[in-house]
Amino acid sequence: MSKTLVTYVSQTGNTKFIAEAIYAAIEGEKSIKSAENVLDEDLKEYSLIFIGFPVHSHSISFKAESLIKRIPKKKKIALFSTHGSLTGSHLSRKALEYAAVVGSHTQIIGTFSCRGKVSMHALDVLSRSPEHKAWAEMAASAHSHPDDNDIADARSFAHWIQTLFAQP
Ligand SMILES: Cc1cc2nc3c(=O)[nH]c(=O)nc-3n(C[C@H](O)[C@H](O)[C@H](O)COP(=O)(O)O)c2cc1C
Repeated sequence: MSKTLVTYVSQTGNTKFIAEAIYAAIEGEKSIKSAENVLDEDLKEYSLIFIGFPVHSHSISFKAESLIKRIPKKKKIALFSTHGSLTGSHLSRKALEYAAVVGSHTQIIGTFSCRGKVSMHALDVLSRSPEHKAWAEMAASAHSHPDDNDIADARSFAHWIQTLFAQP
């Protein structure tokens, strides 16, 4: 049976919440670790790795980028993100697209994303800047996410990735 690792970067808890839903849905031997606790041996040992991160500045943080770069070549991975932007919008996809480029040495077998409430502090700061005001107004509607539907989708994503992983 394969060994699956779920690892994540999370500043305000949304991505951690989704990571826990994915972890709960995974069958077989599994572990969940925040990015800071992941050793290079872990990255070698697990045959399937889920990697989650929040979207920051329409991209991924240095921490998330460093983690993806450490994944061994050809490892099967699945990427997931949480974001304040509207689901399916170009802005919500950009970070995953960038992460896929950073992880192009791996085998990315799937991606998932959902909205996550933006911290009041970030919304407050961004809404005071003319450049970011409109985005902050749009992103405020993420306040109820991740919700039960997001959790159900994250669980389905976990099952789907395990199904794809099992195929030759
Ligand atoms: C400093 C900061 C910058 C952010 N920038 C973006 C962004 O550019 N695009 C976006 O969709 N969400 C952005 N967000 C919202 C987060 O991606 C969202 O709230 C995410 O769910 C946070 O995940 P976490 O709780 O795991 O840290 C930002 C949040 C913060 C705090």
